Amino acid sequence: MSKSFNRKTVTKRPKVENEIKMLSKIGYTLESAISDIVDNSVTAEAKKISITCPPGTQNIFWSIADDGYGMSPEELQENMVIGCKDPAEERDQMDLGRFGSGLKTASLSQAKVLTVISKKKGKPISGASWNVERIIKENDWVLEILSEEECKSLDYLEISSNLNSSGTQIIWEKMDRYDDTDHQDLETEISSDISSIKKHLSLYFHKFIEGKEKINFFVNQDALLPIDPFMKKLSGYQEGEEETMRQGLSKISIKSHTIPHWNRLSKEKLDEYGGSEEISKKQGLYLYRGNRLIIEGGWLGLTMNNKLNDLARVEINIPVELDNLWEVDVKKSSLQIPRKVKILLKEVLKTPTKRSKKTYTYKGKEEPKKYWVKREDEREKIITYEVRSDNDDLLKLLSSLNSTQKKGFAKYLRNLSADLPVNDILATLHSRPLDLKQEHLLEKYQQAEKIFLDFFKKENKK
Ligand SMILES: Nc1ncnc2c1ncn2[C@@H]1O[C@H](COP(=O)(O)OP(=O)(O)O)[C@@H](O)[C@H]1O
Ligand SMILES: [Mg+2]
Repeated sequence: MSKSFNRKTVTKRPKVENEIKMLSKIGYTLESAISDIVDNSVTAEAKKISITCPPGTQNIFWSIADDGYGMSPEELQENMVIGCKDPAEERDQMDLGRFGSGLKTASLSQAKVLTVISKKKGKPISGASWNVERIIKENDWVLEILSEEECKSLDYLEISSNLNSSGTQIIWEKMDRYDDTDHQDLETEISSDISSIKKHLSLYFHKFIEGKEKINFFVNQDALLPIDPFMKKLSGYQEGEEETMRQGLSKISIKSHTIPHWNRLSKEKLDEYGGSEEISKKQGLYLYRGNRLIIEGGWLGLTMNNKLNDLARVEINIPVELDNLWEVDVKKSSLQIPRKVKILLKEVLKTPTKRSKKTYTYKGKEEPKKYWVKREDEREKIITYEVRSDNDDLLKLLSSLNSTQKKGFAKYLRNLSADLPVNDILATLHSRPLDLKQEHLLEKYQQAEKIFLDFFKKENKK
């Protein structure tokens, strides 16, 4: 055994400027940062959460205000500290927080000034602010404290200072993302941010927007409607198997869904879900942590991303207390699947993928097969589409031809079959499914044979 030494110590703190720069670069997006702030409002039992970024203001700011239980002036000051809570501490089931840092790191990833105003029932309204430039200048984590009077005088104040009310408001100012944008593009950029935030929250918090304990979400005064990734209320949806797995006293549930084929969605719904290509890309696992969506699609290496799995979506609900098992990262935007869960998942996954294949073949509407036939060669594993040779009209036509003509015609039909632009049709079905209206041809030719003859003349002149 080695000899033991008494080591002396020296204190070496991180440089405040570098520390703050590092903390603000842990990879939040505007959407994931706002979601982290919203998590706090949900945990604080808010019934109303308003997100605002007023257009046309000189000093751009984002504000997230809730009517949750709020904080007392002392609690607010404590909670402004990065890492104010121990991640190992047991959390309440409804608590979406974890590291005691989301409020600060999410905010500082977006803004150089973070102000929090809060009010707890029976306590005075209070405010505190981190100002990055000042922290760097003073080379210390100096927290600015807003007096009750200053809080009440703020232009953007949305929470009430009445003794009995409660709530919290987060304000982000001096945001990097708008720094280099010139004035003209700014409005466009902000309005695109607003619509992207609306979409994101409608999906990521859909279980709260639609749930029994409903929370009302507003973005620039517009009430948000939930976006259900499983399209459960749309016609063509198929419910799949549900499995639960116990981990101590907690339960993980895994449920498979088959969404309707995009051909069956209205144009409006198709847009809402981002179009057919996006729908296909978003196949896969949907992980919820305490009812809030964390991962949206993708198979995390479990099954091949596959055209035939386009419609398969698997809902996985993980309770907050199982964070350790799943290794939630600070941003709460990724989870590592433990091996045991992976095995169970593979089992459950067999069902939705099968179902998705079936839905893909039967697109609701039965297609006529009088002129075309699909042939499957089981042994060679080859599928072909061919012009039907046993069609009555064709047989009648052939009987009027002499044998040379018959041969020529048969050859033409074979080439016609082989030349079917399959890839092009598939691409069109994906990119513009609603515009593909093959039955229009019939109408066109029925109206006048002349069109048909004209067509031949035109083609032959070339
Ligand atoms: N909107 C809010 N309403 C009430 N309390 C809040 C709110 N936001 C943050 N807090 C308090 O501040 C603490 C720190 O928040 P945060 O930095 O996001 O870390 P975490 O959510 O991991 O605890 C929370 O645990 C909570 O006590
Ligand atoms: Mg939090």
